[in-house]
Amino acid sequence: MTVHIAARPGEIAETVLLPGDPYRARWAARTFLTDAVLVNEVRGMLGYTGSWRGHRVTIHGTGMGMPSLSIYANELIRDYGARTLIRVGSAGALPEHVKVRDVILAQTCSTTGSPSRTLFKELNFAPCADFGLLSKAYAAATAKGTPVHVGGIFSSDTFYDERPDLTGQLLRHGCLGVEMEAAELYMLAARHGARALAVLTVSDHITTGEALPSDQRETSFGAMIEIALEAAFA
Ligand code: ADE
Repeated sequence: MTVHIAARPGEIAETVLLPGDPYRARWAARTFLTDAVLVNEVRGMLGYTGSWRGHRVTIHGTGMGMPSLSIYANELIRDYGARTLIRVGSAGALPEHVKVRDVILAQTCSTTGSPSRTLFKELNFAPCADFGLLSKAYAAATAKGTPVHVGGIFSSDTFYDERPDLTGQLLRHGCLGVEMEAAELYMLAARHGARALAVLTVSDHITTGEALPSDQRETSFGAMIEIALEAAFA
């Protein structure tokens, strides 16, 4: 047991899918895993371990934002031995060619700061995805016919961002979308020799204002979970 995870030793798999929303963890475990067992519910942050096509996997919520993700990813890696961590979540798209419902595979994540920031001082560390996971996720998405984009994203500390010129600079530098957790996950994975990837469904469009209707969120989320599982075990 750790401060935030009540699972007993051995109850967390080496491969962990990390949705921000704990109810999404429950939905994904019930939908995709066989013999899923609830292994954590401290503070309502649900985690389940079960199997997918014979492979043991845990699906555990992270909450929103890098400070919250940092707590769960640290404990999963350092105390429970997680080695492959895949964030499955939503993102706001930036360029017009990235559409609502498309999938973004985050090759790298820019930030203005993260819980790891103080370690690096003057160094602008470039967090990047594990190439093996990234290339398998890309193959899985294209095999399914899911529109998929690979590139840089921005991991923000602010959902209601009021910085006037940031979106323009991100667009100008080819950034595909905005979310709030992946950069810290990539930095922690790098620090501890683990593999990480963020598979993101576009839920809203920052440039056009379009948003995914709530009745279609589940279907899009399901495609993303399958891509993540195939990337982990293909
Ligand atoms: N996650 C989904 N949409 C987002 C947005 N527009 N900004 C930050 N995180 C998001």
